[in-house]
Amino acid sequence: MKQIEVSAFKENIFETIGKEWMLVTGGTKEDFNMMTASWGGIGWLWNKPVAFIFVRPERYTYEFLKKNRKLSLSFLGKEEEARKIYSFCGSKSGRDLDKVKETGLKPVFTETDGITYEQARMTLECQQLYEGEMRESDFLDPEILKNWYGEKKGNLHKVIVAEIEHIWING
Ligand SMILES: Cc1cc2nc3c(=O)[nH]c(=O)nc-3n(C[C@H](O)[C@H](O)[C@H](O)COP(=O)(O)O)c2cc1C
Repeated sequence: MKQIEVSAFKENIFETIGKEWMLVTGGTKEDFNMMTASWGGIGWLWNKPVAFIFVRPERYTYEFLKKNRKLSLSFLGKEEEARKIYSFCGSKSGRDLDKVKETGLKPVFTETDGITYEQARMTLECQQLYEGEMRESDFLDPEILKNWYGEKKGNLHKVIVAEIEHIWING
């Protein structure tokens, strides 16, 4: 894996996050969990390059994000093999099974204690800076609240902003 600078980051984030998807991994190399995510973004905040993600508190991965400030966003590509891993990690919980074992994901630990996978074409290794609560009263469009939250749909997401510390490219 090689590192690139933030200035060399040339992804179309609508495609990369919204369509390709990503694995959000939290925890330590001794104990970690990952889930699929397709909501989030990349930007500039507090004069730092940041990623922001949205995680419902009921996710097992959220427990790992609370235990360790580091997180990684791994992009596996759009091939069939990647789709299978994303579907599995986006529908099963690490509470019930070992996702690494079940998917064949091959963990890789970076020299800076980040966690990614041999299958990832790109990984953003991040440090959490902020976690915020969404509030029902802050929704300006009630349709969004109705469509995405409430009974059977899930809790309001936690908003997590994390500094992008390293960008790793595989190959
Ligand atoms: C395409 C896709 C995108 C998803 N995006 C998110 C997301 O952005 N935030 C979130 O909290 N859950 C998202 N999920 C749901 C979690 O991946 C799913 O609930 C997962 O099973 C949680 O695993 P865990 O309990 O091991 O953490 C997504 C699922 C899929 C299939």
